[in-house]
Amino acid sequence: MLMTAPRPTVARISPAPCTDDTPLLAVRDLTTQFPTRHGWLTAVNHISYELQAGRVLGVLGESGSGKSAMLRTILGLQPKSTRIAGEVLLDGRDLISMSAAEREDMRGASVSMVFQDPMTALDPVFTVEQQLVETIRRHSTLSRTEAAARALELLQTVQIPSPERRLKAYPFELSGGMRQRVVIAIALVSNPRLLLADEPTTALDVTVQARVLDLFRDLKHRMGMGIIFVTHDLAVAAEIADDIAVMYAGRIVEFGSLDDIVRSPQHPYTRGLLEANIRPGQHERPEAIPGSPPNLAKLPPGCSFAPRCHVAEAACWEAVPAATTVAPGHGVRCLKAAVSVETVVR
Ligand SMILES: Nc1ncnc2c1ncn2[C@@H]1O[C@H](COP(=O)(O)OP(=O)(O)O)[C@@H](O)[C@H]1O
Ligand SMILES: [Mg+2]
Repeated sequence: MLMTAPRPTVARISPAPCTDDTPLLAVRDLTTQFPTRHGWLTAVNHISYELQAGRVLGVLGESGSGKSAMLRTILGLQPKSTRIAGEVLLDGRDLISMSAAEREDMRGASVSMVFQDPMTALDPVFTVEQQLVETIRRHSTLSRTEAAARALELLQTVQIPSPERRLKAYPFELSGGMRQRVVIAIALVSNPRLLLADEPTTALDVTVQARVLDLFRDLKHRMGMGIIFVTHDLAVAAEIADDIAVMYAGRIVEFGSLDDIVRSPQHPYTRGLLEANIRPGQHERPEAIPGSPPNLAKLPPGCSFAPRCHVAEAACWEAVPAATTVAPGHGVRCLKAAVSVETVVR
C-alpha cells in the first residue's frame, strides 16, 4: 500500500491506495460521540483510513481507546442517541447515511463481525447446526438440506476437527477455540467482503490463539477478504496485520505498515507499546506506559497523550498535532516525531 503521489508533509493518517481502484473500505473523518452526564464523550475522534481487499488492518490500542466503538459505528450498531459524523464508504457506498433497512442488508451480506467472547455470540440452547442453518437460510434461498450441507462446508473452512460430529454439539460442549471457530463460520455465511474482528483471540489461551490467527490468515489469502482486526496486544497485531493503526483516546496517532510500526515507530505511545513487548526474559508483560488515558468526555486541548509523554513540550499541550506523513504510507500525530526517531536509532 505504497504512496505513488508526491509526499505531502501534512496528510490524513491513512495509507494511499496503490491503485486507482475504489478501496474496499474508506473511513473518512469518522467521529462517534455518546451523551453522558458530563457532556458528549468522544469515543472515535476524526478517524480516517482505507482498507483494500485481501489486507488486514490491525487496530491497536489500550482498553478504552475507542476500538470497539469504531467497529460498532461501521456496522451501525450504536444506540440512537449516538452522534456520528463522517463517512464509512464500503465499495464507495456510505454506510452512515444509509437507511436502517439498507444497512441491515449490507450487514451480514458484505460485512460481518466476530466478537471477543464466543459464548455471547452463540445461543446456548441450539446446536451448532441449528444456528448455522438458520443463519444460512436467512441469507439465501437454500433448502434445509442444502443449508445443512453448507453448514458442514463452513465448519471445514474454519478447520474444525470432526465437523460432522461438531454440527450436532451444543456450544457448551465445545472448547473455547472451537466455539470461536463456529462464530467465525457464522460470520462467513454470507461470504462477506469485509470482516470486523473485535479482539477475537483475547479470550483464548496462547496456543489456541495462534491457531485461530492462522485461520484468519488463511481466510485473508483464500477468500481475499479485507479484515479489520482489533486488539490491545501488539504481539497479536504483529502476527496478523499488514498495516497497523495505533489508537489512543479515540484518535489514530500512528498509521503504517507492520514494518513501519515495528521498526520505525514514531509516536512515543507506539514506542511505549513496543518496549513493553520486547523486554527479554520477561514472562509477565509490564504495564505498557505509566499513567492512564484521559477522560474522553473532557479531552485536553492538546495532544491527548501529553500528560503521559516523557518528551512532551509546551506546544504539545496547546493544540492537537496535525497528522504528518513521515514516509510513504506512514503517518503520525506527534510534534516530537523527529525526536522519537533519533531515540530509536540510538
Ligand atoms: N454506548 C456507550 N455509551 C457511552 N459511552 C460509551 C458507549 N460505548 C462505549 N463508550 C465509551 O467509549 C470509550 C471507548 O470504548 P470502547 O470503544 O469500548 O474502547 P475499546 O474497545 O478500545 O476498549 C470508553 O470510554 C467507553 O466507556
Ligand atoms: Mg473493545
